[in-house]
Amino acid sequence: MKTEFFRIRDVHNQKNEIEKIASFIKNGEVVAIPTETVYGLAADAFNENAVKKIFEAKGRPSDNPLIVHISKLEDIYLLAEKVPEKAIKLAEKYWPGPLTIILPKKKCVSDVVSGNLPTVAVRFPSHKAAQAIIEAAGTPLAAPSANISGFPSPTCFQYVEDDMTGRVSAIVDGGDCECGIESTVITLATEPPTLLRPGAVTPEQLREVLGEIKIDKAVLNPLEKNAVASSPGMKYKHYSPKAALSIVKGNLNQFVGYVNEHKSEADFVLCFEGEEDKMPLPSVTFGMCDDSFSQAKRIFDALRELDEKGAKKVFVRKPYESGVGLGVCNRLYRAAAFRFLNDEKEKKGVVLGLSGASGSGKSFVAAYFTEKGAVTVDADKIAREITAKGSPVLEKLALAFGEDILSPDGELNRRKLASRAFADEEKTALLTSITHPEIIKRCKEHCETAANEGKTVILDAPLLFSSGLNEICDYSLLVFAPEQVRIERIRERDKISDEEIKKRFSAQLTEMSLAEKADFKIKNYHPYDVYEEIRRVERKIFN
Ligand code: TXA
Ligand code: MG
Repeated sequence: MKTEFFRIRDVHNQKNEIEKIASFIKNGEVVAIPTETVYGLAADAFNENAVKKIFEAKGRPSDNPLIVHISKLEDIYLLAEKVPEKAIKLAEKYWPGPLTIILPKKKCVSDVVSGNLPTVAVRFPSHKAAQAIIEAAGTPLAAPSANISGFPSPTCFQYVEDDMTGRVSAIVDGGDCECGIESTVITLATEPPTLLRPGAVTPEQLREVLGEIKIDKAVLNPLEKNAVASSPGMKYKHYSPKAALSIVKGNLNQFVGYVNEHKSEADFVLCFEGEEDKMPLPSVTFGMCDDSFSQAKRIFDALRELDEKGAKKVFVRKPYESGVGLGVCNRLYRAAAFRFLNDEKEKKGVVLGLSGASGSGKSFVAAYFTEKGAVTVDADKIAREITAKGSPVLEKLALAFGEDILSPDGELNRRKLASRAFADEEKTALLTSITHPEIIKRCKEHCETAANEGKTVILDAPLLFSSGLNEICDYSLLVFAPEQVRIERIRERDKISDEEIKKRFSAQLTEMSLAEKADFKIKNYHPYDVYEEIRRVERKIFN
């Protein structure tokens, strides 16, 4: 196939070229275009044959769906069956830009585009040339990254030329990509929304608009055997350079120490700018240590550079996982096939017990750690599990508090049980004596299993100290906010009366007095920056 080349730097004065590029698309051809994230292979999203050509050019499996690119917000309605308010809010805040939103698809969106899923991924890029090409083509463009499947995404014209000449009808040079990693992908088809692929729009930025979001486990972990990928892209080996990468944890000195000790086992290091001189092996760099943006921009290029230099085995400096760093780590860990060398995971994982009064934001802190791959053991959830229909604990409860705490179908009527059990201290003690031993036993089991697998464990237990569960933790952490703040949060969140709120607080009195002796305290209220607070504790525990 003959490939034509275009160079676009000023869309307003290059209308003819833009028209010419668009005519390839109108004719059902594939064109490589620049975007602010990475280069894409674009075709008319409504032309099935054209879209099939993309899969051929990339060598991409057909069940891996494509992102559809638009050049104005309204065009989302051409593609999505339902556009919830959350989507509009996200779009208004982060579009045009490096964010892809997944929504239920319209029938007119072909299964070839959606990889047979009932949803469609939509993105409005901010790159001026991309916008002008979509606009001139007069149709949304399906476009995956412009690499051959399984290779790093191309962030500059040169790489697209290398990979795609002869495979597509045209390649547009639009300069170097600003972000360097692909867009953030969030699906609104789940509740709460799920982050499927991290990018330059960070989890914190998404939460600003969406409130709670889930981070798909596959973001920082290998997909477990037999698990179904929420985003088909996650199940494929991705971003792999020819060299075998291994990630080495620790600060600069620890890294240098490790490389010195093991330098016969590798031929290159991948480190941060300014560190090259300290390295006992040849190096390639990817951005600055404390600047995740600069790392994102360089990561794919650095991987290609290692290949070009013929690197075979590479020790990699581990970046931070927060903010845009989550996107960097997501790409890097995959590129390294999740090989960690001096990994904590080989040792026993840390168990961190969390306590905090209602409204203190305990779950927020738990979520921060889970996002980074920690496992949460939720005592409340376990309390519900052990009182499931037909369970021995439920039988004991019925015996102690009356058969009618069970509804006709055998389920526990929690309200009725609460009204009886919290009637006086003696009854409360009876309830505790029936439920607590089993809850504690299970919490211990869960914590132990996960820690033995080397995972960090967050034991989220409202009665961490009163139940003695703090004893099985390596560290305990109290999340603290003043009463007034907590009242306001609960009022807002649970819409219950102040009287009920006060009742909740008084039930937690003992726990709170005991929790004063927690190893760490996190202040989660204005003017404290809760992330700073968490990171402070994190550094103490994990470094
Ligand atoms: O920045 C970007 O998003 C670049 C530029 C060209 O816009 N595009 C890009 O496309 O990275 P691609 O095809 O390489 O990655 C799209 C990812 C894949 O992992 C795919 O599985 C996922 O998005 N995806 C697409 N549609 C989906 C859907 N309906 N549900 C779940 N995941 C979806
Ligand atoms: Mg890709």
